[in-house]
Amino acid sequence: MVVDGADGVETQPGRVLLRFLDTASEARVLGETRVPSGTTVFDAASWNGIAIDSTCGGHGTCRKCRVRVLDGAVGVSDLDPRAFAPDELADGWRLACRANAQDDLVVEVPPLQTRPKAALAGVGRHVILRPAVQKRHLVLDEPTLEDQLSDLERVYAAMDDLELHASLDVVRELPRILRASDYDVTAVVVDDELIGVETGDTTSSCHALAFDLGTTTVVATLLDLTTGQPLSVRSQLNRQHRYGADVIARISATMIEPGALDDLRQQAHQTLAELTTEVCADADVDPREIYEIVVAGNVTMIQLALGIDPEPLGMAPFVVASRAPVAARASDFGVDVHPRAPAVTFPALGAYVGPDILAGLVATGLTRDRRTRLFIDVGTNCEIVLGSSSQALATAAPAGPAFEGATIRCGMRAAEGAIEGVRLADGGVEIQVIGDAEPIGICGSGLVDAVSELLRVGLLESSGRLVLEEEAGERAPGLVEHMARVPNGKGGEERVFVLAWRGGDPARSVYLSQVDVRRLQEAKAAIATGWKLLVRRLGIQEDDIQQVLLGGSFGAYLTPASAVRVGLVPPLAVTRIVAAGNVAGEGAKIAALSLPERHAATALLDEVEYVEASGNADYNDLFLEELTFPA
Ligand code: FES
Repeated sequence: MVVDGADGVETQPGRVLLRFLDTASEARVLGETRVPSGTTVFDAASWNGIAIDSTCGGHGTCRKCRVRVLDGAVGVSDLDPRAFAPDELADGWRLACRANAQDDLVVEVPPLQTRPKAALAGVGRHVILRPAVQKRHLVLDEPTLEDQLSDLERVYAAMDDLELHASLDVVRELPRILRASDYDVTAVVVDDELIGVETGDTTSSCHALAFDLGTTTVVATLLDLTTGQPLSVRSQLNRQHRYGADVIARISATMIEPGALDDLRQQAHQTLAELTTEVCADADVDPREIYEIVVAGNVTMIQLALGIDPEPLGMAPFVVASRAPVAARASDFGVDVHPRAPAVTFPALGAYVGPDILAGLVATGLTRDRRTRLFIDVGTNCEIVLGSSSQALATAAPAGPAFEGATIRCGMRAAEGAIEGVRLADGGVEIQVIGDAEPIGICGSGLVDAVSELLRVGLLESSGRLVLEEEAGERAPGLVEHMARVPNGKGGEERVFVLAWRGGDPARSVYLSQVDVRRLQEAKAAIATGWKLLVRRLGIQEDDIQQVLLGGSFGAYLTPASAVRVGLVPPLAVTRIVAAGNVAGEGAKIAALSLPERHAATALLDEVEYVEASGNADYNDLFLEELTFPA
């Protein structure tokens, strides 16, 4: 329920408004945000690009995150009395990472002692560089008969702003490394775990790997954590591909073929391992200097890579093994980097709005923005999120593989030789082909463009029927020669529109068929039904949507005007329809660069409400309505 706040601003139950002011000038508002009640002031600030001093990344150990609450009540945490004098506490001083915002607050933020580094990542997001991985150069006193501190205590004492733990492997190595290096070492800490101690000062070499483990393509980005910059990006086909193009095929394989689950896990591991080798060679980085990996992917890809049986994902009630990320090491993904490097994954809202979408929400900042935005990640299973910092809803739409080129007569993925754009003029057909190559097929964006153009020139009716040749002669005489018929494989014929001739035989050419149009209608109806249900549920109108973000390669190649004309997206000005790119991969990068952003991803589990579209009473009626194109 949405209610009016005292200031006339719409407020959401369970959400609080935080206003951050500059110490130097209380009148200067650094930012303002609505967050779920109970969010820490530190996380709320970080999610909105407002830097608060910290070396522990919000763990309550560095005591640097000092802020003053000017308005609103925040209780005194256990740690606050250790950081502040009683008069400071009375004056509203609190540690931001321990200050839970239960009410609307006005918070004063002191200037930073060190200027934080930031990186541009995601969809134009400015991310403050605060990785979970830290390196500290330590020059330690050698033990003496008077100073018999243990080796581990000696290292911990040099980092007393952190509360650390270490595994047996680290303790095994420690005595040798300390003595061999004359007690001049670098400690490698990830989150609150000491994962290694290295000889000498190695602080300038600190890396993480971000993976987008897609069903089709896997992308690896090697990140320099000292600068936030990517050093190398490589992609390759997921080696699981031979089990089928989509997640259902791979889940089915695990149910039918003995040993398939293990092989699918191995194939994913090999893909990730090969990419790791490639990015390290490209950037001349020792894999052992990669201290963390972040993996974004849909639930099935993550479960398969971790060897978790995906069978429950493939049948009702579609249950995930764990909504929260599972603690894992890079080695659990088959990635040979630092032996104790953790592997971070994203949470899942459900089987079909999974970690890849939550990574995408981190990348787009959709739940951090006051604008109402619609995010659509087009795929066989299309994920849709609508909302703002006030409220966000998500659903999944079974769009089928049409936009990926499958089930389309001349369909193909968005790769070299695919027709990605179509323009019809009465003089003929203009096409854009990926890689400026000979056209060999049509990809999702070309399909949408072709249908949109046929609607515009009147060769396609809003019902989806291709007009007959005689009618075409009246409506677009210059295009009649592109109307043809090809064998339909069942002894009959099918009407087609030829986009690119190969010789004079339409069957050998690249064409769009009547059946292809039907496939597109079904796919776009599934997606439009999904977002229209969310619009209704949110209690807004379509024209309240201020931006549409389209994920994936489909979004990158799609012509916004065509997407509007076929009714795939709401009728917004084309400048408001934006290609968001590989958002899952960007989310993985952001999580590697910023611990608070990683916390934000976990908070999305409570912030975003999943709506089961097919369970809605209006679903079938709306779907049937959406099968037609806008008149
Ligand atoms: S104590 Fe380190 S961020 Fe709060």
